Amino acid sequence: MAKVDVLLGLQWGDEGKGKVVDYLAPNYEVIARFQGGPNAGHTLEFDGKKHVLHQIPSGIFREGTTNIIGNGVVLDPITFEKELIDLQPYNLDIIGSLILSSKAQMIIPSHRVLDAAFEKSKGDFKIGSTLRGIGPTYQDKMARIGLRLGDVNAKDFDQRYQALKDRHCETLDRLEYDYDLSDQEAAFFKAIEVLRSYRIVNTEYLINDLLVKGRSILAEGAQGSLLDIDFGSYPYVTSSNTISAGACTGLGISPRHVGEVFGIFKAYCTRVGSGPFPTELSGAKGDKLRQQGNEFGATTGRPRRCGWLDIPALKYATMLNGVTQLFMMKVDILSDIGEINLCDSYSHQGQDTEEFPVDFNEDWSVNLKAFKSWSHHAFNSYSQFPDELKAYISYIEQRTDVPINLISIGPDRESTILK
Ligand code: GDP
Ligand code: IMO
Ligand code: MG
Repeated sequence: MAKVDVLLGLQWGDEGKGKVVDYLAPNYEVIARFQGGPNAGHTLEFDGKKHVLHQIPSGIFREGTTNIIGNGVVLDPITFEKELIDLQPYNLDIIGSLILSSKAQMIIPSHRVLDAAFEKSKGDFKIGSTLRGIGPTYQDKMARIGLRLGDVNAKDFDQRYQALKDRHCETLDRLEYDYDLSDQEAAFFKAIEVLRSYRIVNTEYLINDLLVKGRSILAEGAQGSLLDIDFGSYPYVTSSNTISAGACTGLGISPRHVGEVFGIFKAYCTRVGSGPFPTELSGAKGDKLRQQGNEFGATTGRPRRCGWLDIPALKYATMLNGVTQLFMMKVDILSDIGEINLCDSYSHQGQDTEEFPVDFNEDWSVNLKAFKSWSHHAFNSYSQFPDELKAYISYIEQRTDVPINLISIGPDRESTILK
């Protein structure tokens, strides 16, 4: 029996998951998304082209790879159709290589409106949602009133859609929120027709059958562990389990069938949206990291908040996920920037601690450790790495007790070094 390897982000998302899934895809027969939805923006770069995927797994460009959208995902048919249109120039056999779970929840236009209405009603306590309807759709899943992809072929699909929409409209009226769904509804029903031409099956059977046949599967996470609904900085989180356990519930596999857990992290930290960020750099230093790292959201274009690497947070994420290998991204961005810092521990009311804080307020501060930056020059192998970079890597390995086996030195597929 084969195993499912899981690849996920260990920070607040945007660690570079799309790039690495695309890089590793030739080693796997199946790539499967297990949670999240169009809030994700996974960037792939190759042959001088750059492409952002939101719901379609990042194995889509690799011929011969099967791509699965699992039951844990919330899928927006309108975004799905748009993604397909954006992929047309590449002449890929998407209909042949993409399979969707009948149990994945469906985002309908009023979910998006609700997302905006709920955010507005939160005033100063906004989550900074991507406004893609994620929270309201998972809310309906838990309330057991959601629509699922398998419902598209039900005779009463239109009535069930209408019933769900009516519920949403009642809430929107109560919130006195202005909206007009007409354009979006037309686009939605057009997209539903497109969706009907794709294979929508009970992917849990398919995946388990493939495992029995010894096929290799890579589960592609979205968001990051610090945005997990249970373990992230609640309430400033997303609405799904982003940690490795989410791959079991989001694909229908037993924990016994999880193999390697690849944890991806940036050599520093970023966060989009609200919520605590212990190592955040304000002012010129943060601006410099944002400019050098081109830290602007792949989904919303929002500027990402930037800060130093946070070791206790990284250790927390490796613990929650059972990470077996670390992949460090965007190492090139820290070259030639003078002094690099990382957070080695926190201080809470004068006491040092490594426990990730639920709420990082004025009672907390970070204990920083300084490292020397390395000068930028071309390196094609680990042995050519400058000593300063090797020192940074080995310190992180020592503190997390997990090897860093892949180092990314640029956005392109090729700018990837295995240790
Ligand atoms: P994801 O959501 O985890 O897939 O990450 P995003 O695509 O949202 O954000 C990562 C950004 O960093 C994208 O623009 C990537 O092209 C880029 N990127 C990935 N790895 C590297 C790297 O090693 N160096 C640089 N400079 N950019 C990278
Ligand atoms: P990828 O997969 C970074 C953040 C939002 C917001 C919070 C809740 O590209 O790494 P939501 O729309 O889920 O209700 O927003 O989570 N967020 C992400 N941040 N990368 C993502 O995905 C994100 N998906 C959601 O900014 O703070
Ligand atoms: Mg992203």
